[in-house]
Amino acid sequence: MRILIATEKPFAPEAVKQIGEIIENAGHQLLLLEKYTDKKDLLNAVSNADAMIVRSDIVDKEVLDAAPNLKIVVRAGAGYDNIDTQTATGNGVCVMNTPGQNSNAVAEIVFGMLLNLARCGFDGTMGSELKGKKLGLHAFGNIGKLVANIANGFGMEVFAFSPSLARNPEKGKEFNVTAVQTPEELYEKSDIVSLHMPKNQHTLQTVNYNLLSKLPHNGMVINTARKEVVNEADLTRIMEERPKFKYATDIRLSVHDEAAEKFGARYLASSKKCGAQTAEANINAGLAAANQIVKFFADGDETFRVNPK
Ligand code: 3PG
Repeated sequence: MRILIATEKPFAPEAVKQIGEIIENAGHQLLLLEKYTDKKDLLNAVSNADAMIVRSDIVDKEVLDAAPNLKIVVRAGAGYDNIDTQTATGNGVCVMNTPGQNSNAVAEIVFGMLLNLARCGFDGTMGSELKGKKLGLHAFGNIGKLVANIANGFGMEVFAFSPSLARNPEKGKEFNVTAVQTPEELYEKSDIVSLHMPKNQHTLQTVNYNLLSKLPHNGMVINTARKEVVNEADLTRIMEERPKFKYATDIRLSVHDEAAEKFGARYLASSKKCGAQTAEANINAGLAAANQIVKFFADGDETFRVNPK
């Protein structure tokens, strides 16, 4: 089988090397398309691929329809909102992700961004400490749980909301986390909120004025999830109304230039999406993707399938 790695933002070279070994040892052939800037290159590359490994690369109907031999796409990462799962199902293509494999990198960057915000961009002006602050985790999956552990180390008090945690609040105790019943309650109880929900029809634009206004006037929000889960007009309004409110993200707002100019160090955004951009995360997620594809072709294993058949 021909297995294509198509990554606009490439994996670390060591990850590519090890993915290649897994694929070739299983008798398959590796195709590599990195740093492409033109969608045409992707359409060309998928035309003879049987399988594909991607990151945040857009795998839409045009890409799927250009790949007549494609049987499986693995998103080396957690969120698969970049893949048109409905068309994939229609085309008989299995879609998988690699849950948990890059979570630690994201959990760590949350604290990098949080410290930067709390210490005013390290500009020497008076900042605040994390110890004793109330941290709200909006969603409590693999990343949320790791963030909770690190937050406990900082001496923060941790709260979390997710629909499943609200149904089973006892689960929070394992992580020294207090489960709350609604997003409203989470924002009311927290000084700082970190977002960890996937992007889907239930989460789009849900971090809105109603929720944000429940945080204190000097509240902080860290978004390493997806920019679309935040209502940007409402965020802008809160930051205009509250001169001490801060927001950090590794996915720039659509209104990035305007926000950067208006809010200065209160708005921190990396130039490129980088939460999972560590060699370790690339190796973990990339190798998991390669192994999942090998097992899929060897014995039909679909353990990490995310789209209906
Ligand atoms: C994920 O969903 O796994 C993260 O957002 C990482 O995305 P990336 O592979 O584009 O860095």
